[in-house]
Amino acid sequence: MDKSQPWRRVLFLALFVSFFFYSANIYTSGTALNGETAVSENVLHGQKLFRENNCWACHQIYGLGGYMGPDLTNVVANPELGPEYARMFIEEGTDRMPNFGFNQQDVDDLIAYLKHVGEAGNYNPKKGEITWYGTVKYER
Ligand code: HEC
Repeated sequence: MDKSQPWRRVLFLALFVSFFFYSANIYTSGTALNGETAVSENVLHGQKLFRENNCWACHQIYGLGGYMGPDLTNVVANPELGPEYARMFIEEGTDRMPNFGFNQQDVDDLIAYLKHVGEAGNYNPKKGEITWYGTVKYER
């Protein structure tokens, strides 16, 4: 370093110190998401149950999944169906859908999860139109 220009030394030191604090801040600030994207414990537990019990093998969300049962995206949000309607299927099963033997908390959490999914948007597969080349043209 050029001894005739002491300000360079000061500048270097200032940058070095700022870099040190900046790095310390980056490495200790963690990776948590902000509150807006956080979902409740019940919704997360419902999602876990939905995955672990392979609901997706027979049902779809936004049209993706198995096709033995109906799409569940808006089953809880739909005023003609709703949480009590969904509860009936989840608690009792049918001759085609198994009764999983869930306890009350599990059923509540599955419904909380389906409600959360429904709040993300609307998907009504019956409104889809199959085009002549085989894709689904979906109008909201
Ligand atoms: C073996 C296939 C199968 C699995 C696995 C399954 N279901 Fe179903 N489910 C069905 C069928 C089929 C229906 C439609 C009713 C009928 O025909 O018996 C249905 C209906 C429903 C309904 C009512 C939907 C509507 O719009 O009428 C809900 C809610 C539901 N299931 C939730 C679930 C959840 C939650 C799981 C996972 C814990 C699950 N199902 C797992 C086959 C399945």
